[in-house]
Amino acid sequence: MTTYQEQRGQIETYFDRTAVQAWARLTSDAPVGRIRATVRAGRDRMRAQLLAWLPADLRGARLLDAGCGTGALAVEAARRGAHVLAIDLSPTLVALARERTPAIKGGGHIDFRSGDMLDASLGSFDYVVGMDSLIHYQAPDAVRVLAGLAQRTSTAMLFTFAPSNPALEVFKAVGKLFPRGDRSPAIVPVAEKKLRRLLAADADLQAWTAARTQRVSSGFYTSQALELVRK
Ligand SMILES: C[S@@+](CC[C@H](N)C(=O)[O-])C[C@H]1O[C@@H](n2cnc3c(N)ncnc32)[C@H](O)[C@@H]1O
Repeated sequence: MTTYQEQRGQIETYFDRTAVQAWARLTSDAPVGRIRATVRAGRDRMRAQLLAWLPADLRGARLLDAGCGTGALAVEAARRGAHVLAIDLSPTLVALARERTPAIKGGGHIDFRSGDMLDASLGSFDYVVGMDSLIHYQAPDAVRVLAGLAQRTSTAMLFTFAPSNPALEVFKAVGKLFPRGDRSPAIVPVAEKKLRRLLAADADLQAWTAARTQRVSSGFYTSQALELVRK
């Protein structure tokens, strides 16, 4: 089993080098192929879902965009008035996010950083949002990340996971027979039940409870949002 540190290294290499061009394109308006168009549409829906769970008025709220990529969610939160700290392992994506950020009116702003979302020196937050940034970690590691962030979060943590289902398990088993060429870090699907069990059992998450959940499926994109709130 890959540890958090090992997986984090692979993710950084992938998003900072291997996939940086593809990711820049996927997150832009540039035309993409049919398969990636389904992923883009799914990601747009997921971002809208997560934003819909946040208050419409975020003036004065501190929000961590954990694994911000090219920054689309951070921009929307800042437009609602949030003070956003947007962090990603990939300095290249963070530079691109900075470049793409329009002028924000209405008091919100974004502080972009490259580094680990678990860095305690980032301070504390009212909200944490991690869209598709924990899907490459083993479920116990993802839960430990949430437990770490929970110590510094006052209101809610919204994140996504890759929901496991029997069809996907078969697909994964078949996939193991073939070497993966692009060295992309594998997405680690987890059954919702198992994830909820791990969250409920974590000593540092006893003050938290799982609330709303929503799956988004669009062609080659499937991801599920889960909201954790203080009890
Ligand atoms: C699939 S991308 C999603 C990016 C963005 N949230 C979005 O939805 O457009 C996952 C991102 O999470 C970042 N990431 C993964 N683990 C991280 C960590 N421990 N600290 C900071 N960023 C991380 C990766 O570098 C990558 O850019």
